[in-house]
Amino acid sequence: MLKNKKIVLGVCASIAAYKSAILLRLLVKSGAEVKVIMTPGALDFITPLTLSTLSKNPVFSEYSDTKSGHWNNHVELAAWADLILIAPATANTIAKMANGICDNLLLATYLSAKSKVAFAPAMDLDMYQHPSVIANMNKLTQFGNVLIPAESGELASGLIGEGRMAEPENIVSFVIDYFRKTNSLNGKKAMVSAGPTYEKIDAVRFIGNYSTGKMGISIANELKNNGAEVTLILGPSNQNNIDSSINVIRVESAKEMYKACVIEAAKSEIIVMSAAVADYTPSRVSDEKIKKTANDLNLSLEKTPDILNKLGEVKKTKQILVGFALETNNEYDNAVDKLNKKNLDFIVLNSLNDKDAGFQFDTNKITIIDKKLKSQVFELKSKKEVAKDIVNKIISLTV
Ligand code: CTP
Repeated sequence: MLKNKKIVLGVCASIAAYKSAILLRLLVKSGAEVKVIMTPGALDFITPLTLSTLSKNPVFSEYSDTKSGHWNNHVELAAWADLILIAPATANTIAKMANGICDNLLLATYLSAKSKVAFAPAMDLDMYQHPSVIANMNKLTQFGNVLIPAESGELASGLIGEGRMAEPENIVSFVIDYFRKTNSLNGKKAMVSAGPTYEKIDAVRFIGNYSTGKMGISIANELKNNGAEVTLILGPSNQNNIDSSINVIRVESAKEMYKACVIEAAKSEIIVMSAAVADYTPSRVSDEKIKKTANDLNLSLEKTPDILNKLGEVKKTKQILVGFALETNNEYDNAVDKLNKKNLDFIVLNSLNDKDAGFQFDTNKITIIDKKLKSQVFELKSKKEVAKDIVNKIISLTV
């Protein structure tokens, strides 16, 4: 199940380190190749000999091996890994990871990660609930790392509650599930557009909209998580939670977005147009700031190119084309109209009548309507979860 998968297992100073041996055994049994990095403190809890015997690989804990004079290159270890799994992850290591502290080999490898990083915390009840620990774990997930939540049960301190490292069997299930999902879009090229566009009026003003780019960025990240090679065409947005291996092309106006999308879509098998593209742009742009002289000012606007419409016209048979419809009334009919007119495989309908959904929220409520007019109505969810529903629909069309 994990054949040919390369995993760096990070072990920190926790009593749960004894479970790392069981976890390692299970990973190896499932076919994974595992290299272990221990923090210096972890050496007090379990011996490298146990872990090197089980992994059939040397165990690393220092930057260099003084006896052999060999340098344990963190960049190479990070590049080697298909997944970095830190289990157990202590409050201390989590805090250091969240703040870019790099005082041991495991942290240096984490900071050099090319792969996904998953961490399974282990700590006492009160520590696990401490606001600083929660804030650090949230920070790590915002960076794109995956939390394997602690489980409830009897803790080493004798207290009973949440804080035990997830059972090795559950961590292995997580890893298998992760690789199953990551592989599904392997080798596929995807293009996602996100954010608003700004249409210049003069040197200091523009026409824009309230889109933040959050929804499109979540979709791009999720496509990446599933193995696609992703290009994100992003209008003005201050979001910074974009997976670092996504190719980001920044644009400002609808016209710039059009040019970038046409070029990138031609190279892509999956295209998701989630940007809130301005429909009109000023016919004339003043190079200088327009002065406040007359009592009223009329702006003449002209239509922008409809990017999605164009991509629908030139759509290749094997391409999957996805659009959004943001509606305030007659939602379903308007969405179906756009689905047909723009030659889409499916459309994601947002209604501004739904509370906490749409622009600027961290949550969204969508209905997916496909070209057979099969519709799926989803609950209000975080945009990350909504992105999973959209990407799952895309995956279902690729198989
Ligand atoms: N879209 C686009 N280019 C535009 C306008 C919209 O590619 N110039 C795309 C959006 O990214 C979205 C879809 O078309 O995926 C529908 O956008 P929406 O604003 O809901 O609809 P419009 O087609 O612009 O029609 P209307 O504004 O009349 O509802």
